[in-house]
Amino acid sequence: MKPVVLSLGAFPSATVETLAERFEDYHYTVYPLPDEALSAELKGRIRGIATEANRGATRALIESLPRLEIISCFGVGIDAIDLAAARERNIPVTNTPGILADECADLAVGMMLASARQIVFADAFVRSGDWLKGPLPLGRSVGGKTLGIVGLGGIGRAIADRAAAFRMNVIWHGPRPKPEVPYPYVPDLVALARRSDYLMVACRGGPPTRGLVSAEVLDALGPKGTLINIARGSVVDEEALIARLRDGRLGFAALDVYENSPRIRPEFMTLENVILQPHQGSATVETRTAIGQLMIDNLTAHFAGRPLLTPVT
Ligand code: 8YV
Repeated sequence: MKPVVLSLGAFPSATVETLAERFEDYHYTVYPLPDEALSAELKGRIRGIATEANRGATRALIESLPRLEIISCFGVGIDAIDLAAARERNIPVTNTPGILADECADLAVGMMLASARQIVFADAFVRSGDWLKGPLPLGRSVGGKTLGIVGLGGIGRAIADRAAAFRMNVIWHGPRPKPEVPYPYVPDLVALARRSDYLMVACRGGPPTRGLVSAEVLDALGPKGTLINIARGSVVDEEALIARLRDGRLGFAALDVYENSPRIRPEFMTLENVILQPHQGSATVETRTAIGQLMIDNLTAHFAGRPLLTPVT
């Protein structure tokens, strides 16, 4: 008999097919999942959850599944999984580190370039016929400028190496210095922002980083500065961000993540100095398929009694 799995998310077709082959899979894309979607009988049989990083698994869901044995996350960020609820029942959690860093870094650098060189605005400029009235206003350089990175994990490091190839001066901030890293460490985040032309948020989400990019940090980045967020919306004080983008105390922003996705604050839609992306850092067929395979391989290993491939420690 195949193990019963609840899978939650818009997975690539290869992931959906493999889940259905290996498990008795109940797959839902609706978000949030209404409680009545699962019958009491089904809740009593579910042994595994496969879930997108951004929707995770709440305490209420975990507690409603008495036979739950494992939570396998589709993505690296586990901030939306109630780890305390899982730990209380010794339910292991796995994620997918390593395989999405390059993809997210590509988008992060692309967003920085798109903001600096006005790529999105310039496309609209050509389409609207405004080009016939005069040239595009000048953009900003990245070469020779300073990129401050908040969080130098796998994604932050991949961004740093790309930025170095663009001849940017890379500096970074995190909870502790890393002697093996060739980029200067700045222990104080406000000082990092003050020295940065571009501030890239690439740290993990969850309680330890909530509101880390505060009004004070944004003020230090200043009217010529650009904030890029590829991490989690919770890391940035969105109200302070909107207020500063609106009155020019902060120059520009490029965002892939928001506090409340996909229902983002409507004010963002009205600002011309911000580029908005729909949380698509890892969203290529190649990388999302690899993420799905690792998520499934962790489930398979668990149900076969083998060691998990990438447990969250
Ligand atoms: C996920 C992410 O793929 O890895 C993460 O932490 O946020 C994304 O890469 C996303 O949650 C997919 O829905």
